[in-house]
Amino acid sequence: MKIWITILFVIKLTIASPPPIVLWHGMGDTCCLPFSLGKFSVFLETIIPGVYVKSIRIGNNNIEDLENSYFMNPNKQVRIACDQLAADPKLTNGFNAIGFSQGSQFMRALVQRCGDKLSIKNLITLGGQHQGVYGLPHCGALKHKSCDYVRKIINYAAYYDWVQESLVQATYWHDPLKQETYKEKSQFLADINNERTINRTYIENLYSLRNFVMIKFNNDSIVQPRETEWFGFYAPGQAQKLITLQESDLYKQDRLGLKAMDDAGKLAFLSSPGDHLQFDRDWFIKTVVQPYLTNPADSKKDEEN
Ligand SMILES: *[C@@H]1O[C@H](CO)[C@@H](O)[C@H](O)[C@H]1NC(C)=O
Ligand SMILES: *[C@@H]1O[C@H](CO)[C@@H](O)[C@H](O)[C@H]1NC(C)=O
Repeated sequence: MKIWITILFVIKLTIASPPPIVLWHGMGDTCCLPFSLGKFSVFLETIIPGVYVKSIRIGNNNIEDLENSYFMNPNKQVRIACDQLAADPKLTNGFNAIGFSQGSQFMRALVQRCGDKLSIKNLITLGGQHQGVYGLPHCGALKHKSCDYVRKIINYAAYYDWVQESLVQATYWHDPLKQETYKEKSQFLADINNERTINRTYIENLYSLRNFVMIKFNNDSIVQPRETEWFGFYAPGQAQKLITLQESDLYKQDRLGLKAMDDAGKLAFLSSPGDHLQFDRDWFIKTVVQPYLTNPADSKKDEEN
């Protein structure tokens, strides 16, 4: 009898399809073109047989999607993504979420704001900017004229309302020399980080994740400072000394529930040796796919629920 139960359980585990995966691309990138996340989706489908992968597209085609990564306010993008995912029947039973670069903080906002409509198991962020950026990438690498334009304006006027309204990167621009202005004016990041008020819904929804996995690229030359990928940043008032998440007021006052998550073992701080988003296939399989995307313990937890 016992043997049969074991065999049936193993069969059920084997045939249970892996949880779907939702991707959100970064600045100047697209959901689906074959040389960007389109390629990554195929990679996931190859190494995780039977998995359903959805890559979020904001706009009616790849070009709009790319333009929107510079010019559509993230608050609106998150609302669109929320509706898009909630309407997908294949995601009803929950999914794992992966954010790339700025898609990381957008995906986190989705967890925090859309938690009543979606069931997100693990949130994995690759090179995200959870405490914003102070400095924009050398646009040369992106080969996109919008990048230069955005950088010039942000350097002068990041916290003007019209800039916040119309330039994505301004909404997570975090000037440590103007900490109070940032808290008051940042339309997106200061809000999702509970800098102005404490939104309990954000805390509860984030806490409902099984794991919040932050991946930092140790040799990242694009994101400034790269500690933001682990929720660290410059200490307030200057732009030299860096502090970790654990040393920040956000954590000590536990305004976002991150300390509680850390105490519960829900935060993972992982790293990859290369430059921004330059990771190795085997590293990704071992570090992300096996523990978080195809972990049999997850299927077991689902059955218990
Ligand atoms: C907190 O966030 C939720 C989800 O986005 C939102 O519906 C609610 O209005 C927010 N509450 C406050 C006080 O801002
Ligand atoms: C880190 O970046 C520097 C400068 O681009 C490069 O010379 C070096 O090889 C990189 N190291 C690794 C481990 O990727």
